[in-house]
Amino acid sequence: MAQIRLDKFISERTEYTRSQIKQLAAKGSVKVDGTAVKRADVKIDPETAAVSVCGTEISAQRYRYILLNKPEGYVCSTNDNDGESVMKLVPPEMRTKNMFPAGRLDKDSLGALLITDDGGLAHRMLAPKSHVPKIYIVKLDRPFQSNYVDLFKNGVALKDNERCLPAKVKSLENTENMAFIEICEGKYHQVKRMFAALGNKVVGLHRWRIGNVELDESLEEGEFRPLTQEEIDNLVK
Ligand code: URA
Repeated sequence: MAQIRLDKFISERTEYTRSQIKQLAAKGSVKVDGTAVKRADVKIDPETAAVSVCGTEISAQRYRYILLNKPEGYVCSTNDNDGESVMKLVPPEMRTKNMFPAGRLDKDSLGALLITDDGGLAHRMLAPKSHVPKIYIVKLDRPFQSNYVDLFKNGVALKDNERCLPAKVKSLENTENMAFIEICEGKYHQVKRMFAALGNKVVGLHRWRIGNVELDESLEEGEFRPLTQEEIDNLVK
């Protein structure tokens, strides 16, 4: 594997800037294979070097991929300008500078949210032509109507006449006003707007699947887990 500079390796995988890394190295807080390295511009093999900063080991993985069970009340942005950001739920040692929520969930929506710093993968995953299905469970204000199935299959026209791609809906067994919906796009407030166009209202929205990545039942609200390599490889085919 080609060697890269130590400060580049650390800066790509943490929130430290290169100048912070330089200072930390000078103080002896950066170690490579257990030995303090005073200069941050030395070259290392990113695949084999064991790097730590202030005692915390830095994962060699170039990008991070996290599945968060988003609770209500958090906004999908990288800052707190419009409310508390979901990034607050990612502990500092897992964060990197370029991490962001890939695909939005509204402030009052819950469930599966991917957070990554792999802009390329996020872009491919969110592109409508990639057809990555997202599955939601919705609670409706009024009963689910059986004609919704065909209406969604034919592509719902939103109130502003924008037409959605065909989607699948199914009522949840033994309920009057709960349904599964599967869409491959990510228009602004799309699920809410689709039901609104049919004269209903989404009063609860929970995403439980993005492509092949399913929210584990054991993952409590606010908890997260890293994606498996298989999930990453299969997210965008
Ligand atoms: N569609 C919506 O309307 N809201 C969400 O949070 C996600 C999809």
